[in-house]
Amino acid sequence: MSHNLLKGKKGIIFGALDEKSLAWRTALRCHEEGAQLVLTNAPVALRLGEINKLAEAVNAPVIAADVTNMDDLKKLFEDSVTHFGGKVDFILHSIGMSLNVRKGKGYTELDYGFNQKSLDISAMSLHRVLRTAWDLDAINDWGSVVALTYIAAQRVFPDYSEMADAKALLESVTRSFGYHYGMKKKVRINTVSQSPTRTTAGSGVKGFDGFISYAEKMSPLGNATADECANYIVTLFSDLTKMVTMQNLFHDGGFSFTGVTEAVINQMEK
Ligand SMILES: NC(=O)c1ccc[n+]([C@@H]2O[C@H](COP(=O)([O-])OP(=O)(O)OC[C@H]3O[C@@H](n4cnc5c(N)ncnc54)[C@H](O)[C@@H]3O)[C@@H](O)[C@H]2O)c1
Repeated sequence: MSHNLLKGKKGIIFGALDEKSLAWRTALRCHEEGAQLVLTNAPVALRLGEINKLAEAVNAPVIAADVTNMDDLKKLFEDSVTHFGGKVDFILHSIGMSLNVRKGKGYTELDYGFNQKSLDISAMSLHRVLRTAWDLDAINDWGSVVALTYIAAQRVFPDYSEMADAKALLESVTRSFGYHYGMKKKVRINTVSQSPTRTTAGSGVKGFDGFISYAEKMSPLGNATADECANYIVTLFSDLTKMVTMQNLFHDGGFSFTGVTEAVINQMEK
């Protein structure tokens, strides 16, 4: 159901890989709420071709950009502003990649070359995106930027490995750039800390199936789904949340503040 919450707004969505992606679900909801969109992903992800289905559904152009490449980002913003005939109102950063996890290297045996790339793709990329928009003055006053994160930035989840450090850095960039962009243009920047969700990136973490059912049992409301995450992000892009910035917002059914649940105690007593 649409409430026209984003009517007249224009946004760039990073990171829709396939229909399970948090970015894919969010693009569909933003479109439903009346937004105009530009979709972007790394050239290698675009070659899979899936994103064209989404582009058709939300009537949006697809512009390739490797988020670690400043020339790609500059072109993305320039082309988006031309396409929209004006600046953008919102941006979704839905990007994560751990080379060490991918290569099976645990936290105590990190390859630092891979580590640098993981931090660049998953965290400093938010700085790169914001810096590009800042230099081109490509975001309207009171614009809203959301990046996706995970609670491993605050608490240890051993198999999340270097991505925990990446998310801690991402949340710090959110606060620091949030200060500067807020002062300059009233642009607000927040992270949404989402429940574990079955996506390509999510399923890459070791023991994901066991973990997702543990989180379900540890959350009073249960795990938040990708579509519920999309709904929450729509509210953050809307004018209803204008004074929220520099925050890490948990969207996790209460997991982050739960010490233990009856379901987990019962399981332990078996
Ligand atoms: N799935 C979960 O359990 C979960 C939970 C909390 C947070 N998150 C976060 O949500 C975000 C989206 O992940 P997802 O779960 O939808 O998985 P996903 O695999 O669908 O999305 C990850 C995206 O990152 C893109 N990407 C990787 N390298 C890139 C590069 N160099 N340039 C541009 N894009 C690049 C991929 O192409 C892909 O579209 C990530 O930040 C992830 O850490 C996921």
